[in-house]
This record gives sequence, structure tokens and C-alpha cells, in this order.
Amino acid sequence: MSWKRLYQILQPETSGSAARAFRVIHHAMVLLGIAIMLFDTVAQWREAHQRILDGGFQIVCAFFIAEYLARLAVAPQAPAAPRRGWQARLTWMMSGSGLFDLLGALPGVLDIAFSPKYASLYGFVWVFKLVRYSQGLASLQRVISRARHALLSVLLAFGIVLLAAASLAYLLERNAQPELFGSIPQALWWAIVTLTTTGYGDVTPITPAGRILAGVVMVAGILVFALWAGILASGYAEELRRREFLRTWDLVAKVPFFKNVGASVIADVARLLRARDYPARAVIVRRGERGDCMYFIASGEVEVRLRPETVRLGPGEFFGEIALLTGGPRNATVVAAQPCTLLSLDIVDFRQLLGRQPELARVVSEEAERRLAAGQPPAAPTLEPIATGNQPSPTSSAPVNGS
Ligand code: CMP
Repeated sequence: MSWKRLYQILQPETSGSAARAFRVIHHAMVLLGIAIMLFDTVAQWREAHQRILDGGFQIVCAFFIAEYLARLAVAPQAPAAPRRGWQARLTWMMSGSGLFDLLGALPGVLDIAFSPKYASLYGFVWVFKLVRYSQGLASLQRVISRARHALLSVLLAFGIVLLAAASLAYLLERNAQPELFGSIPQALWWAIVTLTTTGYGDVTPITPAGRILAGVVMVAGILVFALWAGILASGYAEELRRREFLRTWDLVAKVPFFKNVGASVIADVARLLRARDYPARAVIVRRGERGDCMYFIASGEVEVRLRPETVRLGPGEFFGEIALLTGGPRNATVVAAQPCTLLSLDIVDFRQLLGRQPELARVVSEEAERRLAAGQPPAAPTLEPIATGNQPSPTSSAPVNGS
């Protein structure tokens, strides 16, 4: 096996059976390692199964040491790696990912140097090895990094309330309970337990003023955490919107008509289109139904089931426009001939977009007329004119592929 191939197998985003098999073994090793670590701390289980636990632990350690060495060996294959091999390896060793993997190999090194008894206590670091494979955590990292200013402001507010609460509690309670509120650092313990709404109850104010203060601090704690949750939730929503927009942008840019238009038009279109994946044989539109959107094919193929023949449409082509233009029912059933990704355009956005993009409007109507003429029922429905509003000049004359 070449280094390049090994590098690909080790990447979390690589598809293919070898990469998938590696991921399954990797995750199984993480789970096994953690299970062994937990079992090892229960005295009767350890005594009963010492040999199995030690053997399992050594297998897991060997796997993670081998993984570390393999990642080190293939570091020069990374696209942005320095040209010299040793430099690439050093850069990887010093990177976050290299340090994480070194931590993962550490229990194995400790096992060799001392004994599995001590090494297994470090087994908890293996759970961090799953971080690389979690898209959700990567999103969380981006959300936190984007919202860091807002989060830091709330943290600062938390610090201010904490210190103020501890100082006031010290003033109000020091005479009544000198052993618990005798200094501000002592009062800080009460303040943090109260502000985080944990409430151990080991330290409580007893003076009326101290109790009022406690009530205010508890409410302040709830507000601070609500603010944090709100910032993170809106950050997540923003991140999801951004991801969806990027995916749609990518797909839109591949559709021939949109390929030749400027970035601002693609951005305009990408905001309106929704990417949807369909498995093979999924029915996308059904003859006779009301039409509420049309579709551009980004990848894959669909089958338009006309009577009596069937037409296939592929990437760059569109369908579902006739019902929107005529206001009548769908004139054919369209089924995914293979797994496909479609960009759907809602009827309201369809009218707006075609109003703004006269060239697209022309191509879509001409193709609809051609299709209607080809299907030719005795009294073919007529197309409604598209309201083009204040027409900007055409941005492109590139055709959308019709059938
Ligand atoms: P609509 O009637 O909304 O839903 C079914 C779709 O099938 C229709 O819009 C067209 O987009 C598509 N269609 C109908 N006739 C043909 C044809 N002859 N060739 C290709 N596609 C067609």
C-alpha cells in the first residue's frame, strides 16, 4: 500500500470500504479502552478478570501507538505539508491533531514503562480521539469561536456578579458566621455555588439581608446561563444556515446556466434554492398533483414518466416548471432514476427569481412550451406570462439544458 493511500484511509472524511473499516476498528478500540479503564477500577472485576483486562488494554495501546506512528509517517502526504519529510512530520507532531494523538499513545507508553495498572488511569484521554470524527463538535468549535466576543462579555458579567455577590455576602454575614464568611475568598465559594444555581447547602446566609442577596444572586445566575444558551443557540442556527448556503452555492455553480453568471447572481439564487437528496426510485412529483415548486438537477438522473414514453433528465436540466407556469396540475410523474441531488425552487421564489432573471425566465418558458407541444394533449394548457417587474439587463445568455 502506498503512503498516499494510507494517508487517505486515515482521513476522517474519506469514503470507501478501507477508510470505513479503519474508522470502525478505531471507534471500537476507543470504546474497548474506556470500558477496560472503567472495569479496572472495580476491585472485584479487576481481581476476577485481571489477565483479560491487561491483555485487552495492551491491544488497545498497541493500536493507538501504531496509529500515531502511521499518522507521523504519512504526514508529508498532507496537501499543505512542508516539502521536506522531516519538516512535515515535525509540523504535524506540533499541531493540535499530532498532540492529541500523542496523548492517545501515552497510556501505551506508560504501560511499557511502568505497568497497565497505572497506565489504564490515563485511558480517559482516548475519548478525545473521537473529536476528530465528530462534525458536531467541529461546528461547536466554530460557533464558539465566532461568538467568542459575546460569550466573553457574558463571562465578564458573570465575574462581576460573582465578585460583587461574594463581597456583599462577606459584609452581611461575616459577623453572624465568621467561620463560613470570614473572608471574601471564603464567601466566593458560597457565591459560585449560588450563582451557578448548584446550591449544595453547605454554606447558607442566615441574616435577612444575606438571604435577600442570595435570592438576587440566584436569579442573576439563571439570567447569565440563559444568555449563554441564547448566544450559543443563535450561533448554531447561523452556522447551519451558512453550511446550507455553502452547499447550495456549490451545487448551483455546477448547473450550466448558473455557471456563467456572476457571484452576486449565484448568491441571489443560492439563497432561494434548497438542496434535497433523493434515493433511487423516490417519487419526486406525481401526475395530477398541484405544483408548488420546480427543480434543477445538480447530480444524478430522473425519469419523467409521460404517457406512453419515458424521458430521462440529467445534471443541469430542470423539471416541474409547467405546473408553476400554467397553474394547472403536474402533467407527469417524475421519479429518481438513481440517487440524485436536486435544487428546489419554491413557487413564490420562482416568480420573484424569474422576474429578476429574464434570461432564465425565457429559457424556462421556452422549454416548458416545447415540452407541452411534445406531449400535446388536445387542449394543451396555456402558459401564464411571467411577471418580470423592473427588468435588469440579462446577466447571461447561457442556456439551461432542457431535455
Ligand atoms: P410539471 O407538469 O410541473 O411536473 C411534471 C414535469 O415533467 C413537468 O412539469 C415538466 O418539467 C416535466 N416534463 C413534462 N413533459 C416533458 C417532456 N416531454 N420532456 C421532459 N420533461 C417533461
